[in-house]
Amino acid sequence: MRMTASELRKRYIQFFKEKDHAVIPSASLIPQLDPTVLFMSAGMQPLVPFLLGQPHPQGTRLVNVQKCIRTDDIDEVGDTFHLTFFEMLGNWSLGDYWKREAIEMAMEFLTNPKTGLGLKKQILHITVFEGDDQVPFDEEAASVWEELGISRDQIHPLPYKDNWWALGDTGPQGPDTEIFVDIGTPLCSDECRPGCGCEKFVEIWNLVFMSYDRSEDGTLTPLEKKNIDTGMGLERALQVLNKLPSVFETGVFKPIMDKIREITKISDSTPEQMRSMRIIADHIRSAVMALADDQGLVPSNVERGYVIRRLLRVAIRQGLQLGIEDYFLKQIVPEVFDILGKEYDELLRNKTHVLNEIEKEEKRFRTTVRRGLRIAERTLKEKGILTGKDAFMLFATYGFPIEMTVQIAEENGQKVDLDEFRKEFEKHQQISRDATQHRFTSGLADHSEEVIQLHTATHLLHTALHRFIGSSVYQKGSNITKERLRLDVQLNRKLTPEELQQIEEWVNKIIQRDLPVTFETMTPEEAQKQGALGFFGEKYGEHVKVYSVGDVSKEICSGPHVENTGLLGTFRVVKQKRIGADTLRLRAVLEQKD
Ligand code: SER
Repeated sequence: MRMTASELRKRYIQFFKEKDHAVIPSASLIPQLDPTVLFMSAGMQPLVPFLLGQPHPQGTRLVNVQKCIRTDDIDEVGDTFHLTFFEMLGNWSLGDYWKREAIEMAMEFLTNPKTGLGLKKQILHITVFEGDDQVPFDEEAASVWEELGISRDQIHPLPYKDNWWALGDTGPQGPDTEIFVDIGTPLCSDECRPGCGCEKFVEIWNLVFMSYDRSEDGTLTPLEKKNIDTGMGLERALQVLNKLPSVFETGVFKPIMDKIREITKISDSTPEQMRSMRIIADHIRSAVMALADDQGLVPSNVERGYVIRRLLRVAIRQGLQLGIEDYFLKQIVPEVFDILGKEYDELLRNKTHVLNEIEKEEKRFRTTVRRGLRIAERTLKEKGILTGKDAFMLFATYGFPIEMTVQIAEENGQKVDLDEFRKEFEKHQQISRDATQHRFTSGLADHSEEVIQLHTATHLLHTALHRFIGSSVYQKGSNITKERLRLDVQLNRKLTPEELQQIEEWVNKIIQRDLPVTFETMTPEEAQKQGALGFFGEKYGEHVKVYSVGDVSKEICSGPHVENTGLLGTFRVVKQKRIGADTLRLRAVLEQKD
């Protein structure tokens, strides 16, 4: 049966509404209950308290469409069905109906042509939990499916790793039964079966029999009230309903893929080119949805911001591989708005933010790539080789992706020593941990782009004070929010207007010179010898990170900083105030010209 995304969403909701389910809205992509989780990765996530027994205000039967971002399978994206952002259709029973009724409803929705999907039973394959030493084989689920007309050879008992569902190590969980559709392509091997990893059997729906709570020590306690948690992947269901070779031909992707083809002017793609196009389409959709969430996320080097940065940068890299020289992400974003804006208002509310952030990130990354390429090529020319250490330097100092270093090396008939790269990487992580333990307190409110920019500006201000006012003008404390930097320094007077002007002019000159911000790790003694600013009275670890802005500023710091000063905007000191006898407090901002 041919069906559009909006018909499928409506049909699903309507079907369960008629079976007394209350319709609930999609929760934000950013989990509110658990700040340690980066993104909502399953429909049940916002419902955890209710799955553990708390009464839900809308009753015991719920249905919705939940936005999800799952990055566990990010490396698989590019095949026919893996995605990082997807919509999950779900129906829940909170201590209400149980296994038989859940399977009966699922079967009706799957096969009924009028109210459901009208799929033929012969193409359905079902997996059930085969049992382990704690929980027995799910004979009940298997026999209900059989009663409903699924033959035993279409029912596959599988182990814990396939047929047990839990969000993390602890919390509500249980065995599940998964519904796959055989799309009719040949078996991949003698062992081909649902869940074997090939693309013949597409999993479209998962019914979890959530009957346990797992505690920290691993013990399973039966839940007082058992729940049903189901999740149907909208994109995959559309693929099989419309008999398409992949999710990328469905209505939620086709206009995006067409746009990418138009930009690349590649109509007849090789398998590698197709993979690259799919990655771009998937990643841009996820990045747009994450940026559009009302929390105002921005690409950065940590946590959620880092996921967004990675998605965008991988997409740009794939674009480079397809030969796209120009800025292109911004041209694709409107397609995502057209497709998903009708369902998700936040896209319309936050359109400018999304477009601006994507444009800025593409600009930043292209600068990084240009610089990295130059350095990699120069190193190759000078040394004839790119070592693992070189690759790490390019990665850590310039943000140059390791994949690109490997590619450049290969183009020159060389191999990068990836083991050495990994060793350097691990060493660096250890140093970062040391540096964090013996922190050079930088007082960052968060790791947003604004805060990181102001952090680099703080180094410049500190250097300027040291340089123009006196070598004893040391930082005593610093506090940075998205709006401004605040720096307390050792000084027993206010600055004169001339001094202020001199400092501002110098900092702005450095910003305009678009100097690279890099770091090196060294012993505290070496840092002091090199004239780095720092609290040498403090106990540092064995190694410290020293950030340099071009050759004008050096300071011990654990970061993070911008990659180059060019994007900082115009620096201005907005206030100065004496606090105590020998401390001057300065507040400064970076003004962006728009
Ligand atoms: N929680 C299950 C899943 O995400 C079913 O919704 O697959």
